[in-house]
Amino acid sequence: MSGSVTVCDHPLLQETLARLRDKKTPSAEFRRLMEDAGVHLGLQALKGLKTKRLPLKTPMATFNAPRVVEPIVLTAILRAGLGILPGLSRFIPTAKIGCIGLYRNEETLKPVRYIVRLPKGLNKSHVLLMDPMLATGGSASASISILKEEGARKITLVCLLATKPGIRRVHKDHKDVPIVTASIDPVLNSIGYIVPGLGDAGDRLYDTN
Ligand code: PRP
Ligand code: URA
Repeated sequence: MSGSVTVCDHPLLQETLARLRDKKTPSAEFRRLMEDAGVHLGLQALKGLKTKRLPLKTPMATFNAPRVVEPIVLTAILRAGLGILPGLSRFIPTAKIGCIGLYRNEETLKPVRYIVRLPKGLNKSHVLLMDPMLATGGSASASISILKEEGARKITLVCLLATKPGIRRVHKDHKDVPIVTASIDPVLNSIGYIVPGLGDAGDRLYDTN
């Protein structure tokens, strides 16, 4: 049942995470920090991207430079996934963007689907599924199933915070999907929140509650 999990322990990512956890961090700063964290985690998730040496001329010489030849699709689980994606999409302007709209039913904690918009060519792309929070794992697992139904074969889950039950759930359903995160927090409380966590990611991003 065990799949791959990478915890990025770079001190600057951990500093960014600490500022995101801080309840005093206002929404505008929270959005900026979340984008920065998304770039860091996304680059880690895409480390094995396929490249090919292709010729180009520098001002000094002709040179075979390694170029990315694998299409990339960044897919956000709405709403909070939209907060972690924009920095990475600027870094990779050729990446296509997908959206999967799910919210958790507050009583059952089961994900409810309300919109899915995905680009073509998922079967040939490295798909990053992005959501800051992996709590029970229900939303991520359902989203991976949707991506697979639409043809995706190479998927990596990028989340800022994870829990052990969330990781177990994703890898029980989708052992082939690696997970990249900044922290595995110790507690998933009785109402499905991560502790210490950072609170409700969507509310803190968009200043709602
Ligand atoms: C949050 C979060 C994840 C989900 C994680 O979204 O962004 O999508 O909960 O929980 P799970 O692992 O238990 O499924 P939420 O349902 O609060 O919706 P929102 O992003 O629109 O606020
Ligand atoms: N969703 C959030 O936004 N925060 C949590 O702690 C768990 C799920």
